[in-house]
Amino acid sequence: MANDNTGKRGRGPTDPTRRQRITLAAIAVVAEGGVAAVTHRAVAATAGVPLGSTTYHFATLDDLLAAALRTAAEHNVAKLREWERSLAPGADLATALADLVTYALTDDRAQTVVEYELYVAALHRPRLRAASTAWDNAVTELFAARTDPNTGRLLAAAFCGLLMQALLADPPPTREELTAFFRRSLHGTSPAPNRVDPRLSGVTTTRAILLLCGSLRSGSTNAALLRTARALAPAGFAAVAYDGMGALPHFNPDDDHDRPHPAVVDLRTRIDRAAAILICTPEYAGALPGAFKNLLDWTVGGVEIGNKPTAWINVSASGTRAADAHASLRKVLEYTGATIVEDACAHLPVHGSTIDDEGLVADQKVRDGVVTSLAVLAAAVS
Ligand SMILES: Cc1cc2nc3c(=O)[nH]c(=O)nc-3n(C[C@H](O)[C@H](O)[C@H](O)COP(=O)(O)O)c2cc1C
Repeated sequence: MANDNTGKRGRGPTDPTRRQRITLAAIAVVAEGGVAAVTHRAVAATAGVPLGSTTYHFATLDDLLAAALRTAAEHNVAKLREWERSLAPGADLATALADLVTYALTDDRAQTVVEYELYVAALHRPRLRAASTAWDNAVTELFAARTDPNTGRLLAAAFCGLLMQALLADPPPTREELTAFFRRSLHGTSPAPNRVDPRLSGVTTTRAILLLCGSLRSGSTNAALLRTARALAPAGFAAVAYDGMGALPHFNPDDDHDRPHPAVVDLRTRIDRAAAILICTPEYAGALPGAFKNLLDWTVGGVEIGNKPTAWINVSASGTRAADAHASLRKVLEYTGATIVEDACAHLPVHGSTIDDEGLVADQKVRDGVVTSLAVLAAAVS
């Protein structure tokens, strides 16, 4: 043990790094023997500082544990941010999350255990709750950045709960099971429900209404309408957003062969699995947005949309009601063989000012219209 009660300059109570070193030592003590092993004496020994130094910086054990929890959470969130930044645009989030959990269970297991020990300690120590809540909020925010506020919250809860179960499971869930779990959390359906580990199931099977948005704009009114629809799906249905439009390659019939681009496979798979489709698109220059027409072009050759009950909600607040884009949408959908459910199609103008902080449309008239459209669309599903 290094003893730094040597009187060297920079090692007294004013040593700016000492508090942090003591905090890291507390984390090391937790890693070694759990929260119960944390005492001022044990932490001082690990940090190589005099006992008086730990009590100087942290009057109580709870102060010390709260600092350790905050630091562990900051490391964890920094790692998650790095993971999020490394994801390619349009990456399959379910697979990426499964890989992240697998990494936390294997290569990063020791660190994961420490983080959970400290997190759980907050159950008995109210002093730690500010740090545990800040951690929860940071994780929720991070996942929401890739999805939407409600899904972010759901994913944070699913991710943390699953990781805790998986740490204790023997054998731990496989990557395939984890992917199925996250796919279901994200999209309401699983690619192979009968192969999902029973430990990870327990979610009622629902049919999916796939939500296709024609706008890539971050503050999109069309996207806000569809986010709102997600929360208003009728019983037995999950309204599931497709968010891969920006990653689709330009349509070229030469590229539409046995093994098309993964983003195309993903789009077609989602359409194929959906029971119905709801579209929301703006009009650009008197027509459908190019990116959305490109998406539709990728569906014309296949049989994915064929006969699926399909509707649109037109949110245009302009005088022309984006009529040209919607006339064009009808024509393209006819090429795809979609069954247009006329009574589910609606014009519900959305003004940017009615979108709330969560990115949802607050206008009750619009919300009621969405509920009606979804109910009519769902009723058309055989
Ligand atoms: C380049 C461009 C062209 C547009 N052309 C039309 C148009 O022809 N007809 C129309 O009604 N609105 C047009 N708009 C307005 C958009 O449809 C409107 O801003 C809409 O809210 C965009 O949808 P979003 O909020 O989901 O991104 C155009 C907007 C842009 C940026």
